[in-house]
Amino acid sequence: MRPLQMEDDNHIMLIANDYDVACFLRDSFPFPYSLDHAREFITATAGSDTSHVYGIMIDGSLTGVIGLILQEDVYRYSAELGYWVGKKYWGRGIATAAVEGITEDAFENKGIKRVFASVFAPNIASARVLEKAGFTHEGTRKKAAYKNGVFEDELLYARLGN
Ligand SMILES: CC(C)(COP(=O)(O)OP(=O)(O)OC[C@H]1O[C@@H](n2cnc3c(N)ncnc32)[C@H](O)[C@@H]1OP(=O)(O)O)[C@@H](O)C(=O)NCCC(=O)NCCS
Repeated sequence: MRPLQMEDDNHIMLIANDYDVACFLRDSFPFPYSLDHAREFITATAGSDTSHVYGIMIDGSLTGVIGLILQEDVYRYSAELGYWVGKKYWGRGIATAAVEGITEDAFENKGIKRVFASVFAPNIASARVLEKAGFTHEGTRKKAAYKNGVFEDELLYARLGN
């Protein structure tokens, strides 16, 4: 994993501009996904103290993006995890390795005690990723999200540090 660079803009646009990726993410991840969206995202990640965002690299190619959002106030020892992988790279263990890596780094180097992620209930692949990476299903928030005209139950996963 490495920080995003402006030179990643075109490749991010190419792999992010995919309904099958966007449909499991929040509406702040646009579809269609343009070059300007990629550039705005890269700029925003570079200037943020509370978001730690990385490109997931395999053999020098950017295959997806993963990020931690540090929480505030009484939640300041918690961080929210988000990630996506370009469809042509699915099923190779990439998301699982990235989730494990960023989570362990958060515990060891960022003073974080709790990493959590929310998953739309139909997103079986993402729930599986979190389970493989040692996260626990803590509960389900019924109809918590409204995505593409449908209310979705949201699965809450977390992993605790020492
Ligand atoms: C979810 C996502 C990140 C997974 O990335 P990935 O690199 O393919 O994940 P991995 O290869 O590490 O693991 C995927 C696991 O899900 C399993 N899986 C995938 N589709 C599945 C399905 N329909 N039913 C059951 N298991 C499924 C795979 O078999 C694999 O598990 P296994 O190793 O036990 O066989 C990717 O599909 C993606 O980017 N989706 C769109 C965006 C998204 O959902 N982001 C997460 C939001 S919470």
